[in-house]
Amino acid sequence: MDFKEIVDSRGKLVAIEQEKTIPFEIKRVFYIYGVNPFENRGAHAHYRTKQVLIALNGRCMVTVENENGRLEILLDHPSKGLLIEPHEWHVMGEFTEGCILLVLASEHYDEKDYIRSYDQYLEVYPRASHKGGSFQ
Ligand code: TYD
Repeated sequence: MDFKEIVDSRGKLVAIEQEKTIPFEIKRVFYIYGVNPFENRGAHAHYRTKQVLIALNGRCMVTVENENGRLEILLDHPSKGLLIEPHEWHVMGEFTEGCILLVLASEHYDEKDYIRSYDQYLEVYPRASHKGGSFQ
């Protein structure tokens, strides 16, 4: 997603509105920072939660897997967002120092909405593209 930047002589501003810019009601906001560059975060899918990820500072790489296969998406600008639909396995990694990753979520936190095991993900959403693949 490319958010509109409002630019003037003082700097830049991005405004995000639920159900307009973001295609859902935002029930939860969290942010991830201070991540060791050698560590991954995420590595799960959801049953219901939709999310939009925005790198407010720095960069990180997000790998997303769905029925069409896997995509690696670089988040490297605060005007860029990545919509992650429920059922999409996602892993965030390659965090640069100082990276702050903002996450807007459509649901309140509920551990029961997580699929944290990739094997379980394959059982719940069996797909041809998964065959033989091992992916964390
Ligand atoms: P975790 O799901 O491992 O984070 P990531 O999405 O980066 O993989 O969550 C880390 C811890 O934080 C875990 O104990 C659950 C807790 N947590 C909350 O309490 N509320 C939240 O909204 C989130 C995303 C996590």
